[in-house]
Amino acid sequence: MRELLIPIWDLPVRLFHWTLLVLVGFSWWSGEQGELWLKYHFWSGYAILTLVLFRVIWGFCGSHYARFAQFLRGPGTVLGSLRELLGPQAMRSLGHNPLGGWMVLALLAVLLVQTLTGLFANDDIMWEGPLYAHVSKDLSDRLTGLHGLNFDVLLALVAVHVLAIGWHRWRKGERLVRAMVTGRKPAPSTTGQSAFVSLWRAGVIFLIVALAVAGLIRL
Ligand code: HEM
Repeated sequence: MRELLIPIWDLPVRLFHWTLLVLVGFSWWSGEQGELWLKYHFWSGYAILTLVLFRVIWGFCGSHYARFAQFLRGPGTVLGSLRELLGPQAMRSLGHNPLGGWMVLALLAVLLVQTLTGLFANDDIMWEGPLYAHVSKDLSDRLTGLHGLNFDVLLALVAVHVLAIGWHRWRKGERLVRAMVTGRKPAPSTTGQSAFVSLWRAGVIFLIVALAVAGLIRL
């Protein structure tokens, strides 16, 4: 059967993903440097929070394959997708497979915990998150500890995420990275096409989320 490259990941999802990757890398590096770099670490964190909140909303009103309802499935389907992943057959899902779908949710949740705890954190020297004054020193210290611990969880999830993508490439012959760059995946020519929703919608949502985050850090 003839194969076509059909649109799966819309531009907002692709921009979200690759900007997130750069910002998480930068946040890691600037957090390790400390001192004056923490100023940029904060800004990078606000940008990640904006991206993640945008992606959560996009999961309800974005293009077909960006929606949570498209890729979050029950335990039976997830188990089936694990068997499919380990077996020789090609994966049937065009968007996130049911197992990968829960990984997306886990990554978003951990990123949310990471950015929100950062808002209340302190370094005991000269830096305090913008919402530090709203909690006691003791709670801020505990949230700072969680900020550090949760980052290890994030690193572990990212490692599994990248290994899974490698597995898809070498065992299934699927070029998922290319799809996350071009937005297109090969599919049988009989597959129904789904159009991307307007970029205006993404722009407006992004603007509202960015303003909300700007308001939050000034509280
Ligand atoms: C800080 C590191 C990373 C984070 C936090 C991250 C996070 C995510 C998230 C949240 C998604 C879901 C995208 C969406 O539906 O909006 C995703 C998908 C994806 N990521 Fe990453 N990612 C990271 C690094 C990478 C790297 C290094 C690669 C490639 C080498 C990669 C390749 C992909 C691909 C191909 C998908 C789509 C998977 C599929 O087809 O189901 N990611 N990532």
